[in-house]
Amino acid sequence: MILSDNAIKVLEKRYFAKDENGQLLEDSAGMFRRVAKAVAAADAPYVSALALQTIEDEFYEMMSGLEFLPNSPTLMNAGRPLGQLSACFVLPIEDSMENIFETLKNAAMIHKSGGGTGFSFSRLRPKGSAVNSTGGVASGPVSFMKVFNAATEAVKQGGTRRGANMGLLRVDHPDIMDFITAKQDNADITNFNLSVGITETFMKAVAANADYDLIDPHSQTITGSLNARAVFAAIVDMAWRNGEPGIIFLDRLNQDNVTPELGDFESTNPCGEQPLLPYESCNLGSINVSLLVTDQGNGPVLDFERLVTVVKKAVHFLDNVIDVNKYPLPEIEQITKSTRKIGLGIMGWADLLFRLNIPYNSQPALDLAEQLIGVIREQAREASAELAERKGVFPQFEKSTHCQHGIRVRNATTTTIAPTGTLSILAGVSSGIEPLFALAYIRNVMDNDELMETNPFFKQAALTGGFYSEPLMRTIAARGTIKGLAALPASVQAVFVTAHDISPEWHVKMQAAFQKHTDNAVSKTVNLSSKATREDVSDIFTLAYETGCKGVTIYRDGSRDLQVLNIGKVN
Ligand code: CDP
Repeated sequence: MILSDNAIKVLEKRYFAKDENGQLLEDSAGMFRRVAKAVAAADAPYVSALALQTIEDEFYEMMSGLEFLPNSPTLMNAGRPLGQLSACFVLPIEDSMENIFETLKNAAMIHKSGGGTGFSFSRLRPKGSAVNSTGGVASGPVSFMKVFNAATEAVKQGGTRRGANMGLLRVDHPDIMDFITAKQDNADITNFNLSVGITETFMKAVAANADYDLIDPHSQTITGSLNARAVFAAIVDMAWRNGEPGIIFLDRLNQDNVTPELGDFESTNPCGEQPLLPYESCNLGSINVSLLVTDQGNGPVLDFERLVTVVKKAVHFLDNVIDVNKYPLPEIEQITKSTRKIGLGIMGWADLLFRLNIPYNSQPALDLAEQLIGVIREQAREASAELAERKGVFPQFEKSTHCQHGIRVRNATTTTIAPTGTLSILAGVSSGIEPLFALAYIRNVMDNDELMETNPFFKQAALTGGFYSEPLMRTIAARGTIKGLAALPASVQAVFVTAHDISPEWHVKMQAAFQKHTDNAVSKTVNLSSKATREDVSDIFTLAYETGCKGVTIYRDGSRDLQVLNIGKVN
């Protein structure tokens, strides 16, 4: 197993089983074996003991070979007492004190187990409206969101990892302006990602420069109206200042709702890639595509044959997770088992493009993205159909659009592109479908030692091309880009692009290319340079809408005081 020191450090801190004194009870082989065994166990009623062992071994090989990794809660909790395996949840918030605080409690339990929660605050009555039972006035969605944020903060230390939340408010909620500016101060509501739920009515009003109605969700009455372009500009302004809020195209999510009879999508999970019905949960997993390269003598190409094999096994794995999962609430178990959604995606996309000598910001990259995700979805559905033959379709199949189309599947959805924040560190590859941030950077380690980190595929190209040297890598680390470095061939400069070499339009086009054949949504941050204007942000939002994205998140370099990653230097 080729896990980096960094990966081992992450695993030791949060993933390996420990005894009550904090002593490690397993290593990485032990962890993958524990997970493989627990997940294969779902097949026990269907196959012989011998076949069960084969399935367990297949799952083990796929994970330990870093070809596929399930989302973090599965790695942490499978085969252990907690047993909660999903990363994504959406909980409903009804307009009553009882329900608000019931949901708060449920969210805390989910965070404790490593899951993330998304909420729509849109059903809460606006700030200042009457509370019948007390004669007082309501404090509104934003103030309750702050309560949820504080609770998340408190659970942080005791849980498996920092709890993450999505807070969404519909653009036609009367408190929308308070929501848009809620994170004006960076230190506020730090445990939430905020998204404005955009409707088609709103987008039409933006186009027509018209006003649109604000609706009180409690009384269902129109309380006023706002100019759509002014609201759009306010969202753009805050996103430009602070990267938040993002936007989510709610009607578009619901167009792809395969079980509309069970309810509407009101929100997504924290990072935006998984729309879910109230109480629904989903488990994700990602294929490491950087490994899928073959060369039959005509240069490196994507190994589709191997991809198909991994997709089949991964779908089997993720479907099993639904059966062995221990759910935090009966409502969650009920709906999750009735739709059996899974989210298979990828990581290592930028690394794969390096290996194939394809620039991220190029038409061939977009074409390959569409082809890749198209094959993944087709094969994932086929795998799900095979499982359906052996184990049955998902219980709400008759009420789904799959039934209308005559496609018998075991999972209502199969594909999602996750951020793979931790998984990509474990696999040592670029995260999700994001470009690399830096080809080389300096990591400060203990005792102020500096460690040079170079992307392995870039290093390989530099060694092959005969231009590798430690001083050159230091120069690259300091510059943040190889653009314009005379020592490097033009072809290398074209292929080894990083986030800031890539114009925002290409970021959006890549997101749209993957979205085209993804059942759920795509996690992506559109990076802008510090010099980008509000108009640039506005153009990105519009382009994301026009190209069929389900939402968009931007980040302008340097716009937050505290950045996790600075080009050139990482702590
Ligand atoms: O790489 P890993 O499996 O740890 O997670 P990810 O792909 O970065 O994030 C996938 C989902 O996990 C997010 O959208 C959240 O729903 C959840 N998550 C969370 O709850 N808390 C975190 N600190 C990170 C992710």
